[in-house]
Amino acid sequence: MIYAGILAGGKGTRMGNVPMPKQFLTLNDKPIIVHTLEKFLLNNSFEKIIIATPKEWINHTNDILKKYSINLPVVEVISGGTDRNSTIMNIIDYVEEENGLNDEDIIVTHDAVRPFLTHRIIQENIDYGLKNSAVDTVIPAIDTIVESKDDTYISSIPRRDYMYQGQTPQTFHIKKLKELYDELSIEDKEILSDACKIFSLSGEKVKIVQGEIFNIKVTTPYDLKVANAIIKESIDQ
Ligand code: CTP
Repeated sequence: MIYAGILAGGKGTRMGNVPMPKQFLTLNDKPIIVHTLEKFLLNNSFEKIIIATPKEWINHTNDILKKYSINLPVVEVISGGTDRNSTIMNIIDYVEEENGLNDEDIIVTHDAVRPFLTHRIIQENIDYGLKNSAVDTVIPAIDTIVESKDDTYISSIPRRDYMYQGQTPQTFHIKKLKELYDELSIEDKEILSDACKIFSLSGEKVKIVQGEIFNIKVTTPYDLKVANAIIKESIDQ
């Protein structure tokens, strides 16, 4: 079966002084998380779309879903974890408890705060996810990426044409992800904040899907302005 996991378990500290986590802030009068969820609802491949939010925001999320008349059995709201990967694992535990896990089950995981993903990106994640253990959505790096290990001097400048910027969705064979995650030490679990890195460090191939430059992650107040401009442009078109 094919599942979607919408990762909304963060607190949005880099957004600064706002009354609620950024996934609940509005763009054009609609919460960011609803914009994101609506993109997933347009694809009927999903057995369940599971949203994971901080525990204290579950009721608020359910209220929002009611307000926007999203009372479909396909959508569930559960509690997220202390970090992004534990949020993914909470979603997987929920799937396992409710439906059990089969060898071919995959999950398309997506940041709740990337509301501009497209149908193509979701569909390619599903298509490639069925054939590969892991899939990442990326765009070619626009700027040269410069590495500094001491925050003072450059340690390397990798070739730009080999560099990409990671976005989401990221799609995984659920059983494989669980297996690799369970093998990690507590320290590695803290360092490996990107679930695709868990696969690549274990020598597993991670297939690339091309993202979109506008598939931005709303992280800072500046991103919120950009997101409002993207929405406005799509309405004016
Ligand atoms: N996320 C999650 N569970 C966590 C932490 C993050 O589901 N424990 C989600 C966020 O809700 C967001 C996505 O992962 O949709 C990307 O993370 P990020 O932008 O870092 O979100 P926050 O952790 O909320 O932001 P910040 O780092 O500024 O606090």
